Amino acid sequence: MATHSLFLLPGDGIGTEIMVEVEKLIAWTNAEGLTDFSTDSGLAGGAAYDAHGVAITDEDVAKAKAADAVIFGAVGGPKWDNVPYEHRPEAALLRLRKELAVFANLRPAICYPALASASSLKKELVEGLDILIVRELTGGVYFGEPKTITDLGNGQKRAIDTQVYETYEIDRIARVAFDLARTRGGKVHSADKKNVMKSGVLWDEVVRNVAKDYADVELHHILADNAAMQLVRTPKQFDVMVTDNLFGDILSDVAAMLTGSLGMLPSASLGAPDPVTGKRKAFYEPVHGSAPDIAGKGIANPIAMIASFAMALRYSFNMIELATQVENAISAVLSDGLRTGDIAQDNCKTVGTEEMGAAILAKLKR
Ligand code: IPM
Ligand code: MG
Repeated sequence: MATHSLFLLPGDGIGTEIMVEVEKLIAWTNAEGLTDFSTDSGLAGGAAYDAHGVAITDEDVAKAKAADAVIFGAVGGPKWDNVPYEHRPEAALLRLRKELAVFANLRPAICYPALASASSLKKELVEGLDILIVRELTGGVYFGEPKTITDLGNGQKRAIDTQVYETYEIDRIARVAFDLARTRGGKVHSADKKNVMKSGVLWDEVVRNVAKDYADVELHHILADNAAMQLVRTPKQFDVMVTDNLFGDILSDVAAMLTGSLGMLPSASLGAPDPVTGKRKAFYEPVHGSAPDIAGKGIANPIAMIASFAMALRYSFNMIELATQVENAISAVLSDGLRTGDIAQDNCKTVGTEEMGAAILAKLKR
């Protein structure tokens, strides 16, 4: 039996194309004896809906729970715009996050030196950028009840989403952020809207309490709207930013674009350590979506997907050296001037998904 099990869910659109490049990487690290992964794969999103009429089957959810790590591509596309709301592709993602209880979503935004001029911001603002967004992933308005649309019978309808957080949910995500800040720049910004939201008031109160256990880490409070503004104004002031599910969704897209393209950003979603084994449930996915407009053309950027696999090596399997080698390989091919279409630049060579994946693998082989 293999030492570690991976469950692959490529999903829809470019998800299937970029996952192939990760599979090649896994085959190579296994063949070299660097890893001993078994892999199994399933269907998620529209692919699962077409095959089974649901966004993900119970069997695949069970396999995801049993695996040491889940590697996820992307879901969704116009083809499934009209499927019942509970079966829409995104439901697979939300169900997996909830059932795996992966409450801590780490979204690093690193600006590779070779891409500093690909950002929509001035080069000096983003060069050397290294931000980590720690997004709460299993609570807040994404999951709060009631979540309804009611017909008021007078030609009007009322829609309700519920933003709800309890102390323990804020406490545990704050600890993840402070622990990570200790290994980095030693600074945490906590973003909320305590000026208008009760959940923000509690968020801030709990984060401040947690901070007392981390005297060595600097804590700054920031309102979420100001955080969005500061991210595009002087992004390098940030080290770790901790925030709730919805603000984290929005702020991480902003942070992503600072690095040149959404196609560059990996993420890791981690659960609490098991009290007996110490193992955390873990889910790795690129921040970008299924990009239906370019799907099937072989031109998608596989870097966020490959970097998500590197995060799995780092956070699930403690293979820090190998993770760093993968990340360095990505950096090296960019320095060599290889680009996919989304990060195309003058004087650089534009390549497809396969060629980019192969170039990264070739760097590792050296
Ligand atoms: C993300 C995505 C998802 C989210 C969607 C696809 C449900 O935007 O992971 O950032 O909103 O969490
Ligand atoms: Mg998002």
